[in-house]
Amino acid sequence: MDKYLINPNQKISTINKDIYGHFSEHLGRCIYEGLFVDPDSPIPNVNGMRIDVVEALKEMGIPVLRWPGGCFADEYHWMDGIGDKSKRKKMINTHWGGVVEDNSFGTHEYFELCRQLGCDTYINGNVGSGSVREMNEWVEYMTFDGTSPMAQLRKENGHAEPWKIKYFGVGNENWGCGGNMLPDYYANVYRRYQTYVRNYGSSRILKVACGPNDDDYNWTDTLMKHARHMSALSLHYYTVPNVYKWRGKALEFDSVEYETTISKAYRMEELVTRHGEIMNRYDPQKRVSLVVDEWGTWYDVEEGTNPGFLYQQNTMRDAIVAGLTLNIFNKHSDRVRMANIAQTVNVLQSVALTDGADMLLTPTYYVFKMYKDHQNNTLLGSYLTSKEYEADHRLYPQLLESASMDENGVITATVVNTSETESAAFKTQIADYAVKSVKAEILTGASHAYNSFETKDSVKTRSFDAFTVSGDGFETEIPACSVVKFTVSHE
Ligand code: AHR
Repeated sequence: MDKYLINPNQKISTINKDIYGHFSEHLGRCIYEGLFVDPDSPIPNVNGMRIDVVEALKEMGIPVLRWPGGCFADEYHWMDGIGDKSKRKKMINTHWGGVVEDNSFGTHEYFELCRQLGCDTYINGNVGSGSVREMNEWVEYMTFDGTSPMAQLRKENGHAEPWKIKYFGVGNENWGCGGNMLPDYYANVYRRYQTYVRNYGSSRILKVACGPNDDDYNWTDTLMKHARHMSALSLHYYTVPNVYKWRGKALEFDSVEYETTISKAYRMEELVTRHGEIMNRYDPQKRVSLVVDEWGTWYDVEEGTNPGFLYQQNTMRDAIVAGLTLNIFNKHSDRVRMANIAQTVNVLQSVALTDGADMLLTPTYYVFKMYKDHQNNTLLGSYLTSKEYEADHRLYPQLLESASMDENGVITATVVNTSETESAAFKTQIADYAVKSVKAEILTGASHAYNSFETKDSVKTRSFDAFTVSGDGFETEIPACSVVKFTVSHE
């Protein structure tokens, strides 16, 4: 039997709620149809925002939403997306399917969506094909409270009050689709552009510099050495089962591909550790956050769908990836303070899929909903012994966990059993803690289990009671391929 030790005396860091963030890009059916419809559409909406999707995301506890991209951000010109909708400029979305972007969802619509969601804002600016002036004026348009040309324009467009930007990304993937820059060059460009991302009045924008792709440690080193003036550095890492011609299918995979997927997802542990170590050299006070503002599984698109729309289904395998990744972020919350899974609706590892007026919630959705209790909790020291597996030339543990405590001393412990076939028994001991009650919720099923528009509830959370409570802990056996949340309160 494995042993799970939780130490409430070891309070490590605050788990920033924004670790549970999401990403919405003008890509495929994410914004249009997924989040936003014509206000006159028969699909129930408030000011164009789908009621079903907004309600589901609120229930899940969405803390922050990144917009408008992604690669799209570095081709986006914000002035095209304000004012009279019938006069808004149309453009070609060159990155994503070559479709016409009519700019009917722009700055005002984004802030309205965040208002309805009750979440914080994360806007990504255009460095690749935009000017310093364009970025400067966008920030003025959104946040200036007074008399200025841009504040006046915002008022004329129907919004007298300034909005609040929490995070502002100065470019996206500038080593790739955002301008193919070298790290030294981008570090200088960053310094210049960020100068004009002004804090007007009481506005305090957290500036995010474009960080590395995957294991590009040189990029992190260069940015930390030269860029400065940043609140955060971003990291992008996707879990792609195959890196050759085919990425792999969302619904069809064998056990080898399952294990490869899990071991690739587990690589996030190494990436945040090693990028964090470089950051520690320049910033031992951990003033600069590492934000993983794009992560998730990336498979081949579903057959018959536009290859540029990146639409994929979502199984228990994705739920395992989500559960283990979020546990990794919790464990590194001293440095990782925001993350955004790609992408909220209808694109890559989505939490919701839509088909016209219909909507379903994916297994990944239920993981985020279960884990929301960690938001703003204090990370506790914890350790779970576990068997290790080998896949894709690396070892990964069968069990992954994280534990946190709220201000009333209630502990949330989330445990993922990555094994497709083996259950796992473990005994939990909580130091200096007299257990009064334990409640648990589980998401489990065959690794291939998923929700379809015909069967929307194949995979969903249910309560779990296969445990026995002792004085300072509990004993349990959790099934194969499961994500379990234990909520423990004390006497
Ligand atoms: O999420 C899809 C794309 O992946 C984003 O637009 C880009 O930033 C990344 O390469």
